[in-house]
Amino acid sequence: MKELKLTNSPLNGRVEVPGDKSISHRSVMFGALAEGKTTIRHFLKGEDCLRTIDCFRKLGVDIEETEEEIIVHGKGWGGLTEPSEILDAGNSGTTIRLLLGILSGRPFHSVLIGDESIARRPMDRVVVPLTEMGAKINGRSNGRFTPLAVAGSSLRPINYELPVASAQVKSAILFAALQAEGETIITEPQLTRDHTEKMIKQFGGDITRRGNDIVLRGGQPFTGTDIYVPGDISSAAFFLVAGAVVPGSEVILENVGLNPTRTGIIDVLVQMGADIKVEEANTAGEEMGTITIRSSSLKGIEIGGDLIPKLIDEIPVIALLATQAEGKTVIKDAEELKVKETNRIDTVVNELKKLGADIKATDDGMIIYGKSPLTGARVSSHGDHRIGMMLAVASLVAEGAVELENDEAIAVSYPSFFEDMAQLTSK
Ligand code: S3P
Repeated sequence: MKELKLTNSPLNGRVEVPGDKSISHRSVMFGALAEGKTTIRHFLKGEDCLRTIDCFRKLGVDIEETEEEIIVHGKGWGGLTEPSEILDAGNSGTTIRLLLGILSGRPFHSVLIGDESIARRPMDRVVVPLTEMGAKINGRSNGRFTPLAVAGSSLRPINYELPVASAQVKSAILFAALQAEGETIITEPQLTRDHTEKMIKQFGGDITRRGNDIVLRGGQPFTGTDIYVPGDISSAAFFLVAGAVVPGSEVILENVGLNPTRTGIIDVLVQMGADIKVEEANTAGEEMGTITIRSSSLKGIEIGGDLIPKLIDEIPVIALLATQAEGKTVIKDAEELKVKETNRIDTVVNELKKLGADIKATDDGMIIYGKSPLTGARVSSHGDHRIGMMLAVASLVAEGAVELENDEAIAVSYPSFFEDMAQLTSK
């Protein structure tokens, strides 16, 4: 348990948040499947991405880890070998779902598990389309939940309309499609993060988008490359919100990923009236830049529709932001929150209520009335890293101490979170 009592200490200074979680996972995966050496800089050494490295090592891939770099010695798809151990994804949905797409077409048997949060999260959303492609996956409750066993088989291409806007499902199908002969077409109901598509190109492959359709041909070889992982905007979001709501703050976040499929949090801050400046740098591959935020008065807004996939992981901290904005904020079209690391509609609403927020759950989101003073209380992350960090930011505006249970969950995506928070609040 962590006791947090930094009420109204302004945040000042610069921070470079750790590497993007989604991009870090994918860089190891593509590095393993490519021919030759891939060097990854600014890799996120959080628990989730370390699980991905561990799984690929168990699949026979040589991965070196130094202070500064991760070096993956890929030998192509054939370089993956039958694991003698169970592949444990820990808390990581991206690891397990994308691995299912990769392993479906490998000619060997593998078993995948995760922690108790993963055991509650739906895997049928990837098992169903992969099975349609010819995959043989068995699991608890007819393949809906872990543990899952994959008997590699030959795959065929698919035309698939995604029933949910999910980059994890899209990416699992793309990895399977790369092993199928012919053209796969995936139709997205809404644009979701496109890091997999971008990385296919960075590794020398070819993929095209026609409107909402993504078209990918199987059998393409990849070549190892150098990857720089931008800072994770989903981690930066906690200090963007802290900077916006704690009076007297000015926070500068450097080298933050600005992929347009991820920047919904910036749109929300702008619409709420935040004092925010974004300077994009000239970069190849993923977009990146510097964001400066200063505290200001904020107003409630409505958030829904196509914006949701662009900020899905930021909704817990946006809910906190809304408690400090004048008026009503509505978050809708966000049912997906129910199948994240926790049911994030319930965990956000219940934990913020303990601090005195005026917030209520709806079927597809939540409604928040501000501006309300928050007061210290004992709260819990429920083992969900983003709930833990949101509550730590709440402690910066709450009167009195916030006691945070299960704060260790934060190491999943931001192991140095408390150090960076201390650095920003120490000036
Ligand atoms: C991720 C996609 C999102 C996001 C998750 C990471 C990814 O999940 O919530 O944290 O790396 O592809 P869904 O695509 O299932 O919405």
